[in-house]
Amino acid sequence: MTGLTLPRVLIPESKIKQRIQDLATEITFDYRGKELTVICVLKGSFIFFADLIRQIDLPISCEFMGVSSYGNKTASSGEVKMTLDMTEPLNGKHVIIVEDIVDTGLTMQYLVNNLKARKPASLKICSMLVKPESLKCDVEIDYVGFKLGKEFVVGYGLDHAGRFRQLPYIGIVENEH
Ligand code: IMP
Repeated sequence: MTGLTLPRVLIPESKIKQRIQDLATEITFDYRGKELTVICVLKGSFIFFADLIRQIDLPISCEFMGVSSYGNKTASSGEVKMTLDMTEPLNGKHVIIVEDIVDTGLTMQYLVNNLKARKPASLKICSMLVKPESLKCDVEIDYVGFKLGKEFVVGYGLDHAGRFRQLPYIGIVENEH
């Protein structure tokens, strides 16, 4: 044994894959006849993003942004920093922000304000996970994968202190100490 306890499965891989297919079908329908710019919010959404865009049947451009709000803690500091900006202008484009998880919503609020100022033709939000009871601001998520309670989750791109991003499922870390 390596001493590593694997997180308990909360949402299995098969359920995530099915939900991603449904979200992609919805997005493909909603944007039919249009070109789409999808923004991957690093680091957490890279796996969800890669799976989602491969199911969207539209011409798409991919952009990458980095934001950080957490350090190694499991509670939001409320402070959002941009660690990487995208290279292309968004002026006149149809844009979807693809996030891993919306917890307090402060990161998303920061992103929406920042991106709206770049004058896209439209701006929507897709998040794999949302914690409605934790929201501290008014953000509307257009495409939601799964709703959670307040539990801290890992896997499928999400980490705890940098670990567990590669898990193929969404799980809960038990016995932290
Ligand atoms: P918010 O600003 O509080 O909505 O937090 C957004 C960011 O916090 C996400 O992009 C994640 O990086 C991180 N986060 C929030 N909840 C969790 C969780 O349960 N597991 C892992 N990361 C989380």
